[in-house]
Amino acid sequence: MKIKTKTKTITDKEEAKQFLRKYGLYAEFWEPEITDSNINDPLQKYKNQIAKLKRKFGYATADCCSLNTTNPNLDKILEPFKKEHHHTDDEVRFTVDGEGIFGVNPLTEPRFEVCVEKGDLLVVPAMTRHWFELTEKKNICCLRIFKENPKWEAVYEMRNPTSV
Ligand SMILES: [Fe+2]
Repeated sequence: MKIKTKTKTITDKEEAKQFLRKYGLYAEFWEPEITDSNINDPLQKYKNQIAKLKRKFGYATADCCSLNTTNPNLDKILEPFKKEHHHTDDEVRFTVDGEGIFGVNPLTEPRFEVCVEKGDLLVVPAMTRHWFELTEKKNICCLRIFKENPKWEAVYEMRNPTSV
């Protein structure tokens, strides 16, 4: 994980966690606890960490999602993510492979970017203004962890969070 602000770049994991905490975001760094080479399914490889996270935040389920150039509609799929938006539920992503960039607009302070890579878990809490894009490698495989009936609809217009 690498955090880029206007004035600095943070690469230290503890520092990154603390920085994110100030803005209500949450990070963890996972190594697969199940190292059986016959198991390739990331939902199995990381099942212990997923279970712990579900207990911690009350998430109910998880799935795996890949975005890369083998998808002929990649640019079209990515387009809506690139615009600043928020959700009424948390956006929880664990990067299994590849990399991506989450931009965050804390509203009261300058925007910053969180570059995620293999092993990075990021929780973007509900109502946090953010956007997402791939790096030039155009490849990410991630786990999505969510509540029972997640409200993932991207809300593009800004709302006063206190009025929701
Ligand atoms: Fe989003």
